[in-house]
Amino acid sequence: MMTELAIDRGASTAGEEPPGEVVDGRASARVSGRVPPSPLDAPTIISVKDLSIFYGDNQAVFSASLTVPEKRITAIIGPSGCGKSTLLRTLNRMNDFVEGVRIEGAVEYRGTDLYDPKVDPVEVRRQIGMVFQKPNPFPKSIYRNIAWGPSINGYQGDLDELVKSSLEKAALWDEVKDRLHDSALALSGGQQQRLCIARALAMEPAVILMDEPCSALDPVSTSRIEDLLFELKQRYTIVIVTHNMHQAARVSDLTAFFENGHLIELGETQQIFTRPQNQRTEEYVTGRFG
Ligand SMILES: Nc1ncnc2c1ncn2[C@@H]1O[C@H](COP(=O)(O)OP(=O)(O)OP(=O)(O)O)[C@@H](O)[C@H]1O
Ligand SMILES: [Mg+2]
Repeated sequence: MMTELAIDRGASTAGEEPPGEVVDGRASARVSGRVPPSPLDAPTIISVKDLSIFYGDNQAVFSASLTVPEKRITAIIGPSGCGKSTLLRTLNRMNDFVEGVRIEGAVEYRGTDLYDPKVDPVEVRRQIGMVFQKPNPFPKSIYRNIAWGPSINGYQGDLDELVKSSLEKAALWDEVKDRLHDSALALSGGQQQRLCIARALAMEPAVILMDEPCSALDPVSTSRIEDLLFELKQRYTIVIVTHNMHQAARVSDLTAFFENGHLIELGETQQIFTRPQNQRTEEYVTGRFG
């Protein structure tokens, strides 16, 4: 068990909004005509410091430094093979499962170095969950997909309630409430992906990492997930890898553009898509390569 993480998490579960913060900037701007606050105007939850990532002798990420603001959506974009998934996996120690990976530099979560030997990677992955490209429900019932993780983690609360609230947060409850004990594999692809999001939420994470969560989905399911992301960022920090420029522009507050393992540009999404500082960013976001 990792005390710093546990303490930090406990301290952060109450009174999380900084004073005066508008939780849902776009919605409130629509309602009140106010200018939404800068997405950068939020506490940092993850700091990536001078991070280099190697597979054996091959370097995949070169000295990347970036900060992830709390309760915002950060998009990571860039051409295939530029290191997006590699970087994402270092944010919750998922790369521990990948053969031959070595990192230099640091990844800090609420000020704690995630690679400190005292840190328990299981606890890291509970607080920083992940949703993958291809929906991967367990071959079990819808109910068991959600309840399994918390129950093996010794969840003491009401499991029925947890299943319901997780499915509600993932905007799936109404579609599945009458068939909770049917196989999750009978759901559509888009429903399966929302189930995987519900499964991640049931672990009560603070951060959710998503690696191209919509790339296997049709446009209607994609749009449902995008709406859901907008809801989720009121409570969670989201880091999303996407190949879909429209999606990055629509859903994220902050965008990081990578090329060949280098962080080329990081900025507010609107700036990256309308006034990129770097010519390569401009060429990429306007679809001239990648
Ligand atoms: N398990 C691995 N072993 C060795 N090399 C790897 C491994 N995974 C990724 N790489 C290499 O690291 C580099 C970055 O790969 P990564 O999967 O992070 O790219 P990506 O930006 O996510 O690409 P895509 O958009 O295609 O998913 C590539 O050169 C890739 O070949
Ligand atoms: Mg990838």
